[in-house]
Amino acid sequence: MDLTARPRRLRRDGIRGLVSETDLSASDLIAPVFVDATTDERIPIGSMPGHERVPIDEAVDRVAEIRETGVEAVIVFGIPESKDAEGSRAWAAEGVVQEAVRQITTETDAYVITDVCLCEYTEHGHCGVIEPHAHDEPTLTVENDPTLELLAKTAVSHAEAGADMVAPSSMTDGMVGAIREALDEEGHADVPIMSYAAKYESAFYGPFRDAADGAPAFGDRRHYQMDPANSREAIREVELDVEQGADVLMVKPALPYLDIVRDVRERFDHPVAAYNVSGEYAMLHAAAEKGWLDLEETAYESLLSIKRAGADLILTYFAEDIADRL
Ligand code: PBG
Repeated sequence: MDLTARPRRLRRDGIRGLVSETDLSASDLIAPVFVDATTDERIPIGSMPGHERVPIDEAVDRVAEIRETGVEAVIVFGIPESKDAEGSRAWAAEGVVQEAVRQITTETDAYVITDVCLCEYTEHGHCGVIEPHAHDEPTLTVENDPTLELLAKTAVSHAEAGADMVAPSSMTDGMVGAIREALDEEGHADVPIMSYAAKYESAFYGPFRDAADGAPAFGDRRHYQMDPANSREAIREVELDVEQGADVLMVKPALPYLDIVRDVRERFDHPVAAYNVSGEYAMLHAAAEKGWLDLEETAYESLLSIKRAGADLILTYFAEDIADRL
């Protein structure tokens, strides 16, 4: 054969690494941590092998374990001791996230991000205010504007507790602007916002809803999270968050939405984050348990693909395992 181009020449050991286009490193990864105010023992999360809900006074130990693998950043989710109609434990100064963050930031060097949402704190499990008895009505939806104030209070309470960055995830219109304004007013102009800018109404969040006890008690989240059928709408969502002052733009989930990660990467110069969600983690574990897939190889390939698509940061339940390998 008279072939001049033989791409295989560059696939051999020795040259492979030199021509590799994408790098994955522990400093790209953010590990989720679940802190549970209702327990004084660690509780394994059945649908997410290797992950646990930890009591508040083990939050520091949990973060230290993560740091040992080389992962420097965590995102904290809270399971409160009680829920109510408004979700008032979300912004309580002594709430579960506030307490855990205070301890983590005092005792470790981790970069601490907090998820700002109400779904783990409301009895109805939705991400904002629901008008009383609205669940009897077919047109149920979260009230957008009254929710903004509660999200802003929650973000400020996280910053007061020492959070390095806040990450609003409720898909409330105007949430980034409302939070930016409140943080600035309260003297937290230095706290950046990582917006869950393009967050889809995805069935891949299933295991998380067990983990954080945040499943909606009725209805679903189609009224506020995005339709998986849409991609141009994601650009509009991201644009709005950029106008309102978002510092980091997140796409969620990651693997089924790599086209969106790429679109956002191409259209904006902000750092782009992708959330490799609970279902993406659980399905690899389930297949590996059956002996159908190699867990570490598929996890590594997944994260590499997310970076290749254009993400700078990846939120992932694989953070510790993959950082250990790196
Ligand atoms: C809170 C929130 C959710 C996730 C992150 N923040 C749940 C949801 O929107 O239903 C999902 C994370 C995952 O599945 O790993 N709103």
